[in-house]
Amino acid sequence: MRITIFGTGYVGLVTGTCLADAGHDVLCVDVDPAKVEALNQGQVPIYEPGLAPMVARNRQEGRLSFTTDAEAGVAFGSLQFIAVGTPPDEDGSADLRYVLAVAATIGRHLDDYKLVINKSTVPVGTVDKVRAAIAAELQQRGRDIEFDVCSNPEFLKEGAAIEDFTRGARIVVGTESGRVRELMRECYGPYNWNHDKLIFMDPRSAELTKYAANAMLATKISFMNEMANLAERLDADIEHVRLGIGSDPRIGYHFIYPGCGYGGSCFPKDVQALARTARDVGYDAHILTAVDAVNQRQKASLYDKLAAAFDGDLAGRTVAVWGLAFKPNTDDMREAPSRVLMEAVWAAGGKIRAYDPEASRECRRLYGDRPDLEVVAHRHEALEGADALVICTEWKEFRVADFATIKSALTTPVIVDGRNLYEPEAVRKAGLLYFAVGRGNRVAALSPGVSNMVNTM
Ligand code: UDX
Repeated sequence: MRITIFGTGYVGLVTGTCLADAGHDVLCVDVDPAKVEALNQGQVPIYEPGLAPMVARNRQEGRLSFTTDAEAGVAFGSLQFIAVGTPPDEDGSADLRYVLAVAATIGRHLDDYKLVINKSTVPVGTVDKVRAAIAAELQQRGRDIEFDVCSNPEFLKEGAAIEDFTRGARIVVGTESGRVRELMRECYGPYNWNHDKLIFMDPRSAELTKYAANAMLATKISFMNEMANLAERLDADIEHVRLGIGSDPRIGYHFIYPGCGYGGSCFPKDVQALARTARDVGYDAHILTAVDAVNQRQKASLYDKLAAAFDGDLAGRTVAVWGLAFKPNTDDMREAPSRVLMEAVWAAGGKIRAYDPEASRECRRLYGDRPDLEVVAHRHEALEGADALVICTEWKEFRVADFATIKSALTTPVIVDGRNLYEPEAVRKAGLLYFAVGRGNRVAALSPGVSNMVNTM
């Protein structure tokens, strides 16, 4: 099939590349000439395992190309994927400006039947809006050309996007048309031959499915974070609780890891957008607003624990940070807990020495050159001259740590671990104060001040 993808961001690029890899001819359109130029030279702007070689292979074999020419894009594909961004606007709802701009472009250049596919995460009812935007352009041109619009939400995890695309649990398609069902079957055929993963439903249900999936996962995380905070106050160990409840197949082990809060481009934005949608239809979605509030508090908890360990005074202190990305295997720092921590440390007059295996460049891009930030090339370099260590991302390389080295490098033996990487007993035996999530040793319980304790150790 000939397929056009509008948007070469995370979703568009992965979708286009995987569809080309399955044998389709794919043309990706983006408004950013620098990005298109880079992609045409084989440079992939995001870090996603396996993506760069896949882009290179499919470009070489002539199945994948990139352009800024939207008109050529509309002419090219019988399928037209819309995979542009839907950033949140001030009130938390998804901004449809870019989606509708692509729809209008398609309407302006449409010459024969096309199937338009909404891949972007969009509020319920967007299929209708896209259809109306295309129809309005056609009407202006005095043309009567047949087209369809369907919803086909993505369920890609950053860091595992190719795996999720090629071996995903389901392919949701929102349409009421038999013709569209056949086209989508053909499009996804190469990735749908083990068992039928296509789930057809009406467009509104498909749009809501995407939000419901993300909101459910975010709810599991916030719920566990709440339990972890309770465990800290009740002298229980959340790791035992996690295993105890996960063993019930109705609950399961997935997505019940407590931590320093969820980040990324999806969960925070989608939970807020769905809560906003609910308000718009006169429904107060208590669970969604609570999930978001718990998450914001959880992100702040890293700083709270750190500050408590220094009697609330971080002025002039240097904090080593391991992990900047919102999760491992990505360089993405959108909504990352590390940012909440660093910004709070700076506001308190402290300095940051940060290390991340992939996100250094992104960190420098976000924060520029500032005297209170040093991004270093090795995790142990981050400890040099630092007063305490905070772990924000569970990169594999942090899992094994030499506690003696950490202790001798830090001026104060404090580790705040937002990812529960270590066994508390082992860290404490090494003479470090270890504040994980829901695993005892709550800082407040150590008043009048951990630093006093530290001094007497
Ligand atoms: C998510 C969804 O998983 C994916 O299906 C959707 O299409 C987009 O949003 P992503 O944002 O890439 O994907 O990351 P994911 O691996 O789901 O993690 C999201 C956040 O939750 C991370 O910050 C992670 O650290 C956190 N998390 C995840 C937890 O805190 N605990 C867990 O048990 C799992």
